[in-house]
Order: sequence, then structure tokens, then C-alpha cells
Amino acid sequence: MTNGHIVKTPDAAEQVEAAYSKTAVDHMRNPRNVGLISNADGQASITGPCGDTMEIWLRVNDGIIERALFWTDGCGPSIAAGSMVTELARGKKVGEAFRITQQDVLEALGELPEESVHCALLAANTMKEAVKDYLAFRNEPWKRAYRK
Ligand code: FES
Repeated sequence: MTNGHIVKTPDAAEQVEAAYSKTAVDHMRNPRNVGLISNADGQASITGPCGDTMEIWLRVNDGIIERALFWTDGCGPSIAAGSMVTELARGKKVGEAFRITQQDVLEALGELPEESVHCALLAANTMKEAVKDYLAFRNEPWKRAYRK
């Protein structure tokens, strides 16, 4: 309290809303495409330098990504980035999904604060690896049973 007025300090939710775009906040709070696909056609798990892990599973039909699901143990921005990268990949050809960049994810989210831009890189890289995994096993899916 100062000069008889109550000074309200922003709570955590207000701080998040001030730092992130509406779209990013929405994807943090209501992430799309959370979950896993058993016997996925493509799958990847990456742990970034920050120590957070993201995992992505793909269901591919005729070269088109029908479903893309993700999971992460990371921060709010990583949840938003996983949600957005799976949204961007859905319905795309595998080659298009492979070319989704960190910048694409950032632009779709309405940018992230500097300290969180690497979360979008983790999401884009995990998507690339999941597509590579799909391509590696596309012609010989039985080999999945033997992969380490
Ligand atoms: Fe590690 Fe966001 S801080 S992914």
C-alpha cells in the first residue's frame, strides 16, 4: 500500500498474459494434440540443452500426416510449441512437415520471449526427427520391432 492506494502486484497468470501472445497463452492452457499413438508410423524424442524432453508421434497415410501427437515434460512455452508444431503438421505432406522451422512455430504462436525461443526449436527439431523416423521405416516397417 502506498499513499493510501493499494498497489496490486501481478499474479503469475497476469505475468504470463503480459509476456506471451494470446495465441501462445491459449496453446499453453489448452494444448492441442497431446497424447501418444501406439504403433506410430513415425516417432521421435529429443531432450534439449535445457533438459526438457519432447516426444512426437505421427500417423501417416499416403504420405500425408493424418495425426500428430506430442508430449513434453517441459515449460509452458514448450507445451505451446508442441501444440503448434503438431497443428502445423496435421494434414501436410511429410516433406512439408519436415520443413517446418523454429521460425514457423514462433510466427504461428505470435512470437515468444527471447528466453523461450529455444522451446520452438525443440518442437521443430522433434517434428523433423519424427518425419525422418517415418521415412527410415516406411518401406520396411517390420524393422521397427528391432530398433534400439
Ligand atoms: Fe526447455 Fe522450454 S525451457 S523447452
